[in-house]
Amino acid sequence: MDSPSIDPPVPSDARAQPRRLSPLLLGGATAIGLAIVAIVVVDRRIDALPKSHAADEFRIGLNAPFITTADVIVDKMVEVAKISSDDVVYDLGCGDGRLVITAALKYGCHGVGIDIEPERVAEAKANVKLHGVEDLVEIREQDVFMVDLSETDVVLMYLLPWMTKRLVPRFQEMPPGSRIVSHDFGIGDIKYIEPDSTYHVPLEDKSETHLVHRWTVPLDVPPPTTE
Ligand SMILES: C[S@@+](CC[C@H](N)C(=O)[O-])C[C@H]1O[C@@H](n2cnc3c(N)ncnc32)[C@H](O)[C@@H]1O
Repeated sequence: MDSPSIDPPVPSDARAQPRRLSPLLLGGATAIGLAIVAIVVVDRRIDALPKSHAADEFRIGLNAPFITTADVIVDKMVEVAKISSDDVVYDLGCGDGRLVITAALKYGCHGVGIDIEPERVAEAKANVKLHGVEDLVEIREQDVFMVDLSETDVVLMYLLPWMTKRLVPRFQEMPPGSRIVSHDFGIGDIKYIEPDSTYHVPLEDKSETHLVHRWTVPLDVPPPTTE
């Protein structure tokens, strides 16, 4: 797991301060502390969701509320997705289209934004026009569970863990080497399929630190349990 590099304090005279923790131990303890804080914060965000969104996997239609990804997180997501102009990028649950529009603006890739809410689709289409990327980005009103990802190089998403877990068969149809990047949430529980990398990204006002996870296809999916 990547974590921000924190320069350990260097004692001016090591012999004068024999009880100080070694920089290695201090760095390790800091990383573990950050990871624990991040897990607690993400769990709290799930707890804060309306129950209809947080728990009901079998609800048809809108499955995650519209909560936007802050610009600094958007920038990190498209950066770690390693997008090239030849890539096809899908933004699952695109909301106002910010992820896929940013990807197209920065890297000149083609993209598709999918959302089930007509209001979001209208906003995203308006934003595509506003940013002049009509030739690169298409916005579709569609259920993410109906999407075909077999020709998709990059998925960007900010969806709930049960949703991303249900999308695993779709992800496995993506070409080998494709990237999946998620804001805050894992594919299912974060331990279900370990990401290649996790980045801790503070908001600009430093009020919160969010997570950005990246996986590479094919995913290392654990065998089903018999429970
Ligand atoms: C947390 S918001 C993320 C919005 C945007 N991607 C962002 O990061 O700012 C989740 C989005 O998923 C959409 N959504 C929820 N369930 C969906 C479904 N089954 N199919 C397609 N979109 C869905 C919602 O309408 C909402 O816009």
